[in-house]
Amino acid sequence: MAVDSPTAPAPVEPPPFRPGLEGVPATQSAICDIDGLQGLLTYRGYTVDDLVAHSSFLETAYLLIWGELPTAAELQAFEQEVQMHRRVSFRIRDMMKCFPSAGHPMDALQASAATLGLFYSHRALDNPEYIVGAVVRLLAKISTMVAAFQLIRKGQDPIQPRDDLPYAANFLYMLTEREPHPLAARIFDACLILHAEHSLNASTFSARVTASTLTDPYAVVASAVGTLAGPLHGGANEDVLAMLAEIGSADRVEPWLDQAIAQKQKIMGFGHREYKVKDPRAVILQKLAEQLFDQFGHDPLYDLARKLEDVAAERLGPKGIYPNVDFYSGLVYRKLGIPEDLFTPIFAIARTAGWLAHWKEQLGANRIYRPSQIYTGAANRDWIPLQAR
Ligand code: ACO
Repeated sequence: MAVDSPTAPAPVEPPPFRPGLEGVPATQSAICDIDGLQGLLTYRGYTVDDLVAHSSFLETAYLLIWGELPTAAELQAFEQEVQMHRRVSFRIRDMMKCFPSAGHPMDALQASAATLGLFYSHRALDNPEYIVGAVVRLLAKISTMVAAFQLIRKGQDPIQPRDDLPYAANFLYMLTEREPHPLAARIFDACLILHAEHSLNASTFSARVTASTLTDPYAVVASAVGTLAGPLHGGANEDVLAMLAEIGSADRVEPWLDQAIAQKQKIMGFGHREYKVKDPRAVILQKLAEQLFDQFGHDPLYDLARKLEDVAAERLGPKGIYPNVDFYSGLVYRKLGIPEDLFTPIFAIARTAGWLAHWKEQLGANRIYRPSQIYTGAANRDWIPLQAR
């Protein structure tokens, strides 16, 4: 029953419903900017091209989270802190040994990230030291946990991080048990930079919504990992290689694409809510892929991918559908010898930097997220007793 109140505010006309919140600003943010018509992406005002050329993943993470580039001393201290927290408790490793080995590594990562909250349950969101500690722990341990599950599911014990190796090289070492070639480590680090942040995408929105309840940062990252896992978001990078394998050869690209378009199938690694041109990250990743092929040998799937990009430009370009970040990342990771179902967990390792930047920003001007809805269900129904249904 509606309650009449002489003091109730007059009803206001709700804004129009926008499925997927397209074009609806849900926050203010100073972290990342996208120009989807020009294909420009900046973190804190620096282009990703400059960051890939001059920065490292940890320096970029620092920039994203604290807003400014670190001094040499600040960067060294930050790198040392992250290095000191790389190890994960044997109890988390033992817990991972109980996970089904056929389970998806994203599910393993989501569970492990949430478990960190049990170990570091003290929550002091207004204490800067707590914030720094949580940032460092999450950046350090997420990558160790991804590598650990990879070895555990093969029946091996995880190997300890190597303190003499930088972040990206250490991750590849923990994954493959071999010190990576310097070019492989540098290109992998560039991939982490490119995936570190991308404004209010689905997983970051999820992170901010979770953060807005003032829960702990481990729950924030765990909820974002779960959101990133879906095939319309981070999960698309796995599907791209499967799609290229299904096409099989360059001469099959045109008929395959025509049929896919006729069947209204989404072409994986294409299209983006924000970009109406080729995703600038795809442009850089394509160049990185070529560097890898020059050094370590060609991948015939790359020729197929380029043909698909050309044909798709004719068919889908007029609708503003071009390759996104996921289109070439899989080819890079494949050349680095990384299993396909680790592509999205690697995305999560990188995006943890962006999620943490948004967590910190959200805490700085928090208001709990509580959007409205347009109710479309039944009303005024008479109760039906169980026996009468
Ligand atoms: N292949 C074919 N058609 C497409 C594609 C695609 N990949 N993407 C969009 N379209 C078409 C749609 O069919 C639709 O056409 P219509 O208007 O004739 O019906 C139109 O473009 C708009 O598509 P939406 O799905 O409404 O666009 P939205 O902005 O909601 O979706 C998304 C963006 C999810 C990325 C979409 O392009 C997609 O599903 N792409 C494939 C999956 C993918 O690569 N995801 C990774 C995105 S990047 C990231 O999250 C890290």
